[in-house]
Amino acid sequence: MASRIFFCLWGYLLLVLPATASAALSPYYYGGTCPNALPTIKRVVEAAVSRERRMGASLLRLHFHDCFVNGCDASLLLDPSPTIDSEKNALPNANSTRGFEVIDQIKSEVDKACGRPVVSCADILAVAARDSVVALSTIQANFLVYYCCFEIFVFKMRTKFSDLLSPFSDLPELISGFKKHGLNEKDLVVLSGGHTLGFAQCGTFKNRTYNETYNINPNFAQKLRSSCPPNGGDRNLAPLDPTPARFDIAYFTNLKYKKGLLHSDQQLFSGGSTDNLVKTYSSNPQAFWRDFAKSMVKMGNIKPLTGNQGQVRLNCRMAN
Ligand code: HEM
Ligand SMILES: *[C@@H]1O[C@H](CO)[C@@H](O)[C@H](O)[C@H]1NC(C)=O
Ligand SMILES: *[C@@H]1O[C@H](CO)[C@@H](O)[C@H](O)[C@H]1NC(C)=O
Ligand SMILES: *[C@@H]1O[C@H](CO)[C@@H](O)[C@H](O)[C@H]1NC(C)=O
Repeated sequence: MASRIFFCLWGYLLLVLPATASAALSPYYYGGTCPNALPTIKRVVEAAVSRERRMGASLLRLHFHDCFVNGCDASLLLDPSPTIDSEKNALPNANSTRGFEVIDQIKSEVDKACGRPVVSCADILAVAARDSVVALSTIQANFLVYYCCFEIFVFKMRTKFSDLLSPFSDLPELISGFKKHGLNEKDLVVLSGGHTLGFAQCGTFKNRTYNETYNINPNFAQKLRSSCPPNGGDRNLAPLDPTPARFDIAYFTNLKYKKGLLHSDQQLFSGGSTDNLVKTYSSNPQAFWRDFAKSMVKMGNIKPLTGNQGQVRLNCRMAN
């Protein structure tokens, strides 16, 4: 126990008990079955992030997209097959989500370190997201993830894909989209802070750049237009905030100057009910960190599969 606590306690520890946690969910779940599991995941994530900083962003996004479609069940990792209508082909994911090879590598190294497949792909996604954020953080920080979740092995309904939010959504739609998963306005704002990392493709912010002149900083829009032409160039990248490889508060500061990249980002600071939260986080990194950790735990506990509801996959890309 002492050594495990030591492992988890470095830096600034947050132990948050989510309201939805069942008895089966525990931050110490692998302590008995495979003490090497978490250090192994961390090692592979750190290596991947040092090869390419953006990978941290991509891994964080995978966990989010997994959790918002039918709960955190690693359904996103399933490749298309005659029985699987893969989430990878859904509009918000196709040609956009990335990092699947890193997840494969983690899975293979974790199974080797444990001597057998005990760590679920859903848990790998959650831990990799946490380790990515920690690797790119500007302050020493960490938080516990609650594990145990198994993965789904049944056919997915395509209609569920609409649970992923669109970057063209207005604030009420974003709020209700999060509420559907038991997440409130604070969760929405602080988790959108995930956009302190990573990049978006021109097709997701083109309309905002050219048509939202009433709500975008003109110099910022001008700069974006040079890499995002009115026609074509849809896959050109722009950073979601000025420091895309640093987990900091620049995302929120930026919103105050109407420099949010996506329409959905700027919606969080456009005279609506979430303005004050944006102001708080833009001036208080500790508050951002604390609330982000709490909301990540909440998001990681959306409909977890426990016991015989699921399986631990041998290969994250297919059901056993
Ligand atoms: C509030 C609703 C959200 C919307 C509408 C949204 C939408 C988007 C879009 C359109 C992109 C760019 C994708 C591309 O162009 O390929 C993106 C990227 C990203 N999103 Fe979100 N997102 C939301 C919330 C979140 C949350 C809650 C997180 C994590 C906590 C997150 C993490 C990320 C990250 C890290 C990236 C960059 C990925 C990379 O560079 O590979 N997003 N998001
Ligand atoms: C993804 O990219 C491929 C190759 O460029 C293209 O054929 C396909 O239509 C794209 N899919 C989506 C949903 O944009
Ligand atoms: C701007 O809005 C008009 C009208 O909705 C639309 O036809 C046009 O494609 C938009 N421009 C861009 C660059 O998205
Ligand atoms: C594009 O921007 C205009 C102006 O803000 C808006 O009326 C329109 O709904 C937007 N189109 C899309 C597809 O978001």
